[in-house]
Amino acid sequence: MSLEAQIDRTNLPQHIAIIMDGNGRWAKEQGMSRVLGHKNGVGSVREVAEAAAELGIQHITLYAFSTENWARPKHEVNALMELLVETIKSEMSTLKKNKIQLNAIGNLSELPESCQINLKEAIEETSNHDHMTLTLALSYSARWELENAMQTIAHKIERKEISANQVNEELISKHLNTANMPDPELLIRTSGEKRISNFLLWQIAYSELYFTDTLWPDFKKDDLFQAIIDYQKRERRFGKTSEQVNQL
Ligand code: IPE
Ligand code: IPE
Ligand code: MG
Repeated sequence: MSLEAQIDRTNLPQHIAIIMDGNGRWAKEQGMSRVLGHKNGVGSVREVAEAAAELGIQHITLYAFSTENWARPKHEVNALMELLVETIKSEMSTLKKNKIQLNAIGNLSELPESCQINLKEAIEETSNHDHMTLTLALSYSARWELENAMQTIAHKIERKEISANQVNEELISKHLNTANMPDPELLIRTSGEKRISNFLLWQIAYSELYFTDTLWPDFKKDDLFQAIIDYQKRERRFGKTSEQVNQL
């Protein structure tokens, strides 16, 4: 049976978040420049987006560029920004074909102007697509997001728009960049690293974590299916006992 056929369609995660890692090591293995590794990663983004949309996943969030990634060599940062613009343009047909809405989270005002313009246009152009939302985390870090949310909430308290005791989980979630999304049930990281690297810290409180040694440019549809099958074998207990969870 194909991996796709093994997936239980009644138990799909609504939201899958992915830390796309390993482009540099993939390039090194092939004797290529790191930038070519990033270019080859675009094919995996397309495959994963299409496969997820076909399955009926509602949200995919991809960690594409972290706040910390600004510290990379300037030429790599520039190449990544150029690749972002190229990819938005070249993948518009994929987004249209699969009715995927593009979304972005992160400190977008830090991106070069051309990126901001292209991103905004693509987000507007796909805003009526309702099949799946593909969110790119760009110049994103969870601590930046939480810092922002806390400042906004503090200002609201200062202006007496809300009181301190109204600050609860729900209110905090609503002040994050992911306000309109369910928390990811599944977080995937490629390349063998077993860390979160400042991604969605609040939102992954109860996510299932899936780590694979596969480098991002090699991560294809079947790798996504494998991760979902693995997820479906797990028992999500949310603090309860196994007996409680299995009670009818
Ligand atoms: C992930 O691949 C892409 C970004 C962080 C932009 P890396 O570039 O981190 O690849 P490795 O970790 O060096 O192999
Ligand atoms: C995390 O990957 C960020 C993205 C995938 C965009 P990194 O390769 O930057 O993470 P660290 O620095 O190895 O933790
Ligand atoms: Mg890396």
